[in-house]
Amino acid sequence: MKNYVLDQLERPMKDLRISVIDQCNFRCTYCMPAEVFGEDYRFMHGDELLSFDEIVRLVEIFAQFGVEKIRLTGGEPLMRKNLDELIYRLNQIDGIKDIAVTTNAVFLVRQAKKLKAAGLTRVNISLDAIEDEVFQITNGRGVKTKPVLKGIEAAREAGLEIKINMVVKKGMNESQILPMARYFKETGDTLRFIEFMDVGNHNGWNMDEVVSKKEIIEEINEEMSLEPLDANYYGEVASRYRYADSDSEIGVISSVTDAFCSSCTRVRLSADGKLFTCLFASSGYDIREMVRSGQSDESITSQLIKIWTGRDDQYSVERAQKKPLKQKKIEMSYIGG
Ligand code: GTP
Ligand code: 5AD
Ligand code: SF4
Ligand code: SF4
Repeated sequence: MKNYVLDQLERPMKDLRISVIDQCNFRCTYCMPAEVFGEDYRFMHGDELLSFDEIVRLVEIFAQFGVEKIRLTGGEPLMRKNLDELIYRLNQIDGIKDIAVTTNAVFLVRQAKKLKAAGLTRVNISLDAIEDEVFQITNGRGVKTKPVLKGIEAAREAGLEIKINMVVKKGMNESQILPMARYFKETGDTLRFIEFMDVGNHNGWNMDEVVSKKEIIEEINEEMSLEPLDANYYGEVASRYRYADSDSEIGVISSVTDAFCSSCTRVRLSADGKLFTCLFASSGYDIREMVRSGQSDESITSQLIKIWTGRDDQYSVERAQKKPLKQKKIEMSYIGG
């Protein structure tokens, strides 16, 4: 079965990103601005979410496509009840080699050990500033850095691999590029700078607010010499650099100024079971309906083959060519980054 599926794929499918919940305890201005995601915002209800049984069944199907890596995202994935149980079950599936979570780390203090014991290997932690005054604004909830730094420590103590993600937006936190680089050079955690992207419809994106990969590298390199490194794996979204005088490394995710669509091996499943082949798509394929209407694995597999082989997304390349976008995009909190 696996070979039959793989034979039909021109583009490898390696990385399945599953959003397990659309809620978050933060309101980052570039992702879930508080004025839009307020008290009366309607998040998904219990029955709308894919159940763990449904997720496990789908991952078994996706493993036939060559998916080896599962990333659980949100919103904030640690807000999904009993996440460790899901991780434990995913870890039993043949072919799945790596289970990671993208989180703001606040709940790691309570959950890191349990998640590691269940089979979690890595955490990518969002932190946009090391100074409280800036971080309190970027997270939209006035949270200081301490709860996040404690979460990072808990992850370290639990033996999880750690990367730090910092979205850089002009006028918001570019002052933090060097302080963050200095801080994580010392701790040895890989810090990745992410160009502010036009995901969703509400973050008021403007090209003038993007700090480019080139600018970021130049600024750091002036103080701390950097050397480029090869990618860790095909389709890695970050370009890697190491400090000349230490083993620490950084990465830059340059989807705006240097798009990487041609090597996109990622597929995304929203918390309510819609499948997206691009972060900037405007609609997804309703996989939950396929599952809940009682379709067989074979039927779902053949529809997934059609979707994947028919994909022609290259949104970031088109953005660079200034092609106008026709439809509304989905939100980052919905698709999970
Ligand atoms: P690793 O497995 O550690 O390499 O993680 P990752 O970088 O694939 O995952 P993570 O969730 O840490 O992603 C960091 C950020 O990169 C995301 O939040 C997005 O902002 C951006 N990103 C990830 N995948 C894509 C993609 O396919 N397209 C674009 N445009 N941006 C992406
Ligand atoms: N631009 C770039 N990255 C974003 N993220 C959320 N919104 C944006 C955006 N507009 C990233 C976060 C986190 C992940 C969940 O998505 O920093 O690492
Ligand atoms: Fe929450 Fe992450 Fe979005 Fe911030 S970037 S609002 S932490 S999901
Ligand atoms: Fe893949 Fe879309 Fe990102 Fe391009 S913009 S790398 S096609 S998810």
